Amino acid sequence: MQDFAGKTVLITGGGGAIGSATARIFHERGANLALVDLNGAALEAVRSDLGSDRVTTFAGDVSDPDIIEHAIAGTVSRFGSLDVVFSNAGISGEVHSFETFPLDEWDHIVRINLRSMFITVKAAAREMVRAGKGGAIVTMSSSMGGWDVLAGGAGYGATKYAVTGLTKTAAFDLAKYGIRVNAVCPGVTETTLGVPGMREGADQAQSAVQQFAKRIPLKRIGQVDDVGEVVAFLASDAARHVNGAAWLIDGGQTLQSFANGPESGEY
Ligand SMILES: NC(=O)c1ccc[n+]([C@@H]2O[C@H](COP(=O)([O-])OP(=O)(O)OC[C@H]3O[C@@H](n4cnc5c(N)ncnc54)[C@H](O)[C@@H]3O)[C@@H](O)[C@H]2O)c1
Repeated sequence: MQDFAGKTVLITGGGGAIGSATARIFHERGANLALVDLNGAALEAVRSDLGSDRVTTFAGDVSDPDIIEHAIAGTVSRFGSLDVVFSNAGISGEVHSFETFPLDEWDHIVRINLRSMFITVKAAAREMVRAGKGGAIVTMSSSMGGWDVLAGGAGYGATKYAVTGLTKTAAFDLAKYGIRVNAVCPGVTETTLGVPGMREGADQAQSAVQQFAKRIPLKRIGQVDDVGEVVAFLASDAARHVNGAAWLIDGGQTLQSFANGPESGEY
């Protein structure tokens, strides 16, 4: 069992499905938590659910560098250190065929999914370099958006591929300070962002979940804890030699190819 007692973990998108599940995992293993999210009410719900004084929250937009600087300064002042950062906040954005993809929407997705990642990783690295104790940073990419091709995903796909590039560059530049940077690439995960119809109602969501599960080699859809567990591993000392990696967490979803797709009889 990993032990994060005395360590401080900052999670962006900490009010969301994957962010809050990951927060719970770190919290159970002793970490102090700093959660940042645009949705202040969601942050309060997570904080009250965890019911502990090892949690601090910052409501704000992570694509604004002042918000991240404020959150990091507040975290260090409250807990005395910043050891782990999970840069997870993101949106799926709109889906349009490439030739009609609106520039404003593309800019919006890039701002939230990529600019905020740069801002967060850079600010975290500056604090970790200042403190001189190394650290671990995990970024959020995607299996469908950052490994595979998502139809109509010119915005989401561009940002999630870019996140792995940014992660590898950061990993290389920051290695000399003992700071490791890795990305996670979840496949379809059962959240309102991941499953169409989940916001609208249980029936629609259930049929989408079943359809996805059928098409994933492991015959199950990803759960938020599947992602949180890998993030915790990458942040732990057990992953001390893992740097610049992009970890697929997708049940083999991206192993599908022309030769072994769902209709091929190989499933
Ligand atoms: N669910 C999936 O299938 C899946 C698969 C691969 C990758 N991801 C990625 O995982 C991350 C989390 O997704 P989720 O499924 O938990 O979705 P979610 O919507 O439950 O969580 C995202 C959180 O990010 C927050 N957020 C959005 N924009 C923000 C901003 N500008 N500033 C601060 N906070 C902001 C939201 O308020 C929300 O709480 C996203 O980056 C997403 O792209 C999800």
